[in-house]
Amino acid sequence: MTKKRSILVTGGTGYIGSHTAVELIEKGYDVVILDNLSNSHAEVIDSIEKITGVRPGFANIDLNNKSAVQEFLRIHPVEAIIHFAAFKAVGESVEKPLEYYRNNLVALINLVELCRDQGIRNFVFSSSCSVYGEPDYLPIDEAAPVKPAQSPYANTKKIGEDILRDASAVLNMNIVSLRYFNPVGAHASHQIGEYPLGTPLNLFPIVMQTAIGKRPGMKVFGQDYNTPDGSCIRDYIHVVDVARAHVVAIRRMLEGKCKNKYELFNLGTGTGLSVLEVIHAFEKSTGIKINYSCVDRRAGDVEKVYADTSYANSELGWKAEHSLEDMIRSAWAWEQELQKKTMVGSK
Ligand code: WQD
Repeated sequence: MTKKRSILVTGGTGYIGSHTAVELIEKGYDVVILDNLSNSHAEVIDSIEKITGVRPGFANIDLNNKSAVQEFLRIHPVEAIIHFAAFKAVGESVEKPLEYYRNNLVALINLVELCRDQGIRNFVFSSSCSVYGEPDYLPIDEAAPVKPAQSPYANTKKIGEDILRDASAVLNMNIVSLRYFNPVGAHASHQIGEYPLGTPLNLFPIVMQTAIGKRPGMKVFGQDYNTPDGSCIRDYIHVVDVARAHVVAIRRMLEGKCKNKYELFNLGTGTGLSVLEVIHAFEKSTGIKINYSCVDRRAGDVEKVYADTSYANSELGWKAEHSLEDMIRSAWAWEQELQKKTMVGSK
């Protein structure tokens, strides 16, 4: 029996982290999760075990506590780290910039220094298409210029990439940054999904909460953009496709197939959808009418962004496989699951 290769997933009880932990376990990796539960629930560990039959290792450690992380890694040596743990609310980052810079950047620097000191040679970074700002051309590829960030959150992703690029030049490490477009949907088991502690701000969960009656209605931010129906366009990608890209990146690193010490890839579908198209697709798929009103634009929104996926497709041999229908149906099933949870919780 060959020993399983151990991967640390920081932020592994979060949305993309938990889906990635499931995919890693199902591909035969040993997974340990560090999470301070600042925006997630410990019960996600039980859900990961329920889906896979394997319970990942877990410790409630804040990555800003470097000595605690160091001790954890001494006891649980790993061959690679996938780093999801970060604050990610765009609006909140504008109100609390120092907390965002400290939390997102100090944690990253701590982890890379520990990789250097403990001989961990593989690091995957959770980055974002928000580094492109308002793109100069579409679809947007990895060669596109990174733009001035529209928020402190986006800036922490931009600076994070710079830190990793410069660190990879002097450290004996392979580093891959994955620029997510808009991850949505949930695992087919309905056991895990987007489950933040606070009120979600993203489009998909808001559509679902409106449909289930948690919200009396929702707002469409802007109908005067230069798009076919006037609402913003994004590249929505199923969270399981995003998770699977992380497993591909880990395998690439462990098999020594990286072509550069620092690599970055777009994780999108290549298809842009407007806000109104998403709402109408949901209504068509479920037969449920969404009560929405069109209001002013939301500060910080880019008009349209969607990925050129050819580099990730060819270089990683990875392609998004889930349809919009899969995204909508899985997100809706998860919202109904969440309602059951809260009803059980309230009894
Ligand atoms: C999408 C569209 C809104 C809510 C997200 C993450 C960010 C990054 C990129 C990972 C916009 C509109 C939304 C609502 C609306 N991901 N909208 N009514 O802003 O693209 O950013 O993906 O790093 O962290 O936040 O996603 O879902 O907030 O908005 O009209 O109630 O939906 O204006 O056009 P966004 P979003």
